[in-house]
Amino acid sequence: MSKNNPNSLQNKTWLKVFDSFLTTLKAIVFLIFGTLLYGIFGHHFDFNFKKNDVAQKSTRTYNSTAIEEDWDKVENGIHLQTGLVHDASFDIVRANCTACHSGKLIAQNRATREGWLQMIRWMQETQGLWELGVNEPKILDYLAEHYAPEETGRRANIDMAAVEWYILEMEED
Ligand code: HEC
Repeated sequence: MSKNNPNSLQNKTWLKVFDSFLTTLKAIVFLIFGTLLYGIFGHHFDFNFKKNDVAQKSTRTYNSTAIEEDWDKVENGIHLQTGLVHDASFDIVRANCTACHSGKLIAQNRATREGWLQMIRWMQETQGLWELGVNEPKILDYLAEHYAPEETGRRANIDMAAVEWYILEMEED
C-alpha cells in the first residue's frame, strides 16, 4: 500500500496536467471557432453598424450645417458661434484663438493687456500656441479692450470689512 501511494499520486499529478492541457485546448478551439464564426457572419453586423453610422452622420451634418449657418451671425455685437465680440480684429482672433478651445473660454476670462500677454505666453510655452507675429498687438488690443477686468462680467470683489459676520450655530441633539 505504501509503495503504491507514490505511484497513484504521480498518476493524479499527470491527470491534472492532462486535464489542464485539455482545458487550454478547449479554449483555443473555442477561440478559433469564434473567430471563424465572426469571419463568416461578422460582416453582417459590420454592415448594419456602418449603415447606422451613415444614417446618423447624414442627419447630423444636415442639422449642424443649418445650425452653423444660423450661428455665423452677429447679434448685439457678439458673434454667436464663438461667443466673441465682433469687430475689425475678430477674424484674426477667431483664426488664432479658437483652434484649440472654444471662444467662450476667452469670453469668460478678463485680464489687462499684460495679463492677456501672460496667458498667450503660457499657451505658447506649454500648449503649443504658435508665434502670433504681427497679429499679436492686434489680438492684445482686442482682448484688452473687450475683455478687460473692469467689465461687468464678474461680480465685484466682496468688501471683507463691510461684511457682518455671525457665528453659525450647529444644532446638537
Ligand atoms: C495651440 C492651442 C491653443 C491656441 C491656438 C490657443 N489656446 Fe488658449 N488654451 C489652450 C489650452 C490647452 C488651454 C487650457 C485649456 C484648459 O485648461 O481646459 C488654454 C486656455 C486658455 C484660456 C483660459 C486660461 C485660464 O487661466 O483658464 C484662455 C483665456 C485662453 N486660452 C485664451 C486664448 C487666446 C486669447 C488665444 C489666441 C491668442 C488662444 N487661447 C489660443 C490652447 C490654445
